[in-house]
Amino acid sequence: MKARQIKQNVHWIGAIDWDRRLFDALIPLPDGTSYNSYLVQGSQKVALIDTVDPTMTEVLMAYLGNVEVIDYVIANHAEQDHAGSIPQVLEKYPDAKLVATPKGRDLLAALLLVPEDRFITISDGETLSLGGKTLEFTHAPWVHWPETMLTYLREDKILFPCDLFGSHLANTALYAADEGQVYEAAKRYFAEIMMPFRTSIEKHLEKLNSYKIDIIAPSHGPLYSKPSFIMEAYRSWVSDPPKNIVVLPYISMHGSTQKMVEHLVDALVDEGVTVKQFNLAATDIGKLAMALVDAATMVIGTPTVLIGPHPNIAHAAFLANALRPRLEFISVIGSYGWGSKAVEQLTGMIPNLKAEVLTPVLGKGFPTEDVFKALDNLASTIAKKHKEHGFP
Ligand code: FEO
Repeated sequence: MKARQIKQNVHWIGAIDWDRRLFDALIPLPDGTSYNSYLVQGSQKVALIDTVDPTMTEVLMAYLGNVEVIDYVIANHAEQDHAGSIPQVLEKYPDAKLVATPKGRDLLAALLLVPEDRFITISDGETLSLGGKTLEFTHAPWVHWPETMLTYLREDKILFPCDLFGSHLANTALYAADEGQVYEAAKRYFAEIMMPFRTSIEKHLEKLNSYKIDIIAPSHGPLYSKPSFIMEAYRSWVSDPPKNIVVLPYISMHGSTQKMVEHLVDALVDEGVTVKQFNLAATDIGKLAMALVDAATMVIGTPTVLIGPHPNIAHAAFLANALRPRLEFISVIGSYGWGSKAVEQLTGMIPNLKAEVLTPVLGKGFPTEDVFKALDNLASTIAKKHKEHGFP
């Protein structure tokens, strides 16, 4: 693909990764992704903002084939999907300086073995003039790593926030065109990557209020010519109260837990609660992560395997603990044969979730009337708690 002009002397020169299906050997990418790199040419200096994943370095280097000089490589973030091609770029441009926060310098030196004398470290709020194009840097720790920063091009009012506001979406549209599709991809991205950093993001969103932004140019997925579209979505994801939703990840080996799940779902629906049910034997964990963005309650359904929870359930609990959704209530349901420590083990795996644990329901073998009654009580308790909190 050819370089794509965003404004005069500002070009997208990224790589679209249509076929990638897994990120960090963990996160499903059903729609691929892109690594967006940007070339900003001032009257005196030229800057490259972020690079691309090392698997696609040749795509970036082809764009740079006719670019004789790069003075600055701006590293908003040291993670390799944006920084991975820096060594090759620095090799091609031996006088170029690598611009990063102090923490960025440390990480880039450690991860990519960039020599000390190639760096310029910048402080929060510092600017760099390219001649008619001024780059302003804002330190933005924990969006996504501790070294991250945002770059703002003053004259053109373009924000380059790297991971923030990104989406894993391979697409030929330069700007977000199909808002439904982009919203879904951006929410998935938020859930999988950004949700643990909600508090930091909320702070940075406030900071960005003082900037006049015409275009947001993230380093994954399409750009936004209507910045309010993605900024409002982020505000809702980080600040709104959870909704009247129960997320129900479960596994059933022989049908007993399945029966309990079906009964609980019916009871919750009767109580006016929305349920998102995920059979972890088949589900895409990105869908589960997305559901956790809005849910007030998670009920985990598990059979007992060797006295503990099913390993797939343990994986989901561990993931939910890492993603830190704003859940208010948690419970566990499931079946066992001769004994179970599933509840104790699962609740021990989620210390980050500051949620109230509602009385679990475990049944021996196939569920009996007593178990169904206990599930009805759990549904009533959840509905009551959601109402008391006014969850919409
Ligand atoms: Fe897209 Fe944190 O890297």
